[in-house]
Amino acid sequence: MMTAAPGRRLRILLLGGTTEASALAERLARDAGIAATLSLAGRTANPAAAALSVRVGGFGGAEGLADYLRRENIDLLLDATHPFAARISANAIAATTASGISLLAIERPPWMRVPGDDWIEYDRVAEAVSALPDEPQHVFSALGRQAIDALRIAPHHRYVIRVVDPLELPKELAHASLITARGPFRTEDDANLFEDHNIRYVLAKNAGGSAAYAKIEAARRLGIKVHMVRRPALPPRTTVPSVDDALRWIADYHRSRSDLGV
Ligand SMILES: NC(=O)c1ccc[n+]([C@@H]2O[C@H](COP(=O)([O-])OP(=O)(O)OC[C@H]3O[C@@H](n4cnc5c(N)ncnc54)[C@H](OP(=O)(O)O)[C@@H]3O)[C@@H](O)[C@H]2O)c1
Repeated sequence: MMTAAPGRRLRILLLGGTTEASALAERLARDAGIAATLSLAGRTANPAAAALSVRVGGFGGAEGLADYLRRENIDLLLDATHPFAARISANAIAATTASGISLLAIERPPWMRVPGDDWIEYDRVAEAVSALPDEPQHVFSALGRQAIDALRIAPHHRYVIRVVDPLELPKELAHASLITARGPFRTEDDANLFEDHNIRYVLAKNAGGSAAYAKIEAARRLGIKVHMVRRPALPPRTTVPSVDDALRWIADYHRSRSDLGV
């Protein structure tokens, strides 16, 4: 773990909502040289308990975030949001550019196709749904609650939709069923689920990481087609691929600031 550098505590705002952010929160909380706050959008009803103090809800766009960073005297903004949370990540870039505050993003590598995978890739959720066959199919949707509206493009399929919190399905999705569950998931369990529901297609976002990879492995094992949504593009920013890399980066950053007497 990091060693606390002498001098002022490093003030960090951690944008969360992911397993990486939870892990980072726990590690940062143990460092006496760091004062960090975890920020959550407030989408999930019962977020995992956090080791840091937590603030919840939007900032009011990039300007609101920049105001928050200045007001709270933040030194470093850590973006550990989901790879598909493109708006907050774009806001993080704009806000740190505007305020001159440092930004580091944790960007897990995307999943790469391996032999046995039967993927077709799409840039948008709506394209992945529209590309399902005309005839009704048994489809597993791991696209999340925000993509449920997009399923109305092709309401005739028998969707099995997995989300974190319960929700009411649109009445157009008369053949859909809902599963509420929070990852990490196991390949064995997802394969059983796909067999039980006779799944022929999986709709997925290329989130990367291990917690949600089980459905991809299960689809490979059972020869199921995956309609994979590519990640949204973002402007250039400093990134690291993992929590450990982020902690090393932060330690170096903290040390260099202390050397400069900041
Ligand atoms: N998109 C996914 O597939 C997905 C999957 C798993 C977890 N998540 C997590 O769920 C949260 C919301 O995702 P999203 O796709 O709705 O994001 P988004 O579209 O990028 O963000 C929409 C708005 O929500 C607010 N927001 C998002 N993340 C925030 C955070 N950590 N703290 C404070 N405000 C935040 C911001 O509001 P203001 O503009 O008002 O500041 C942002 O403009 C993120 O924290 C993300 O890490 C998303």
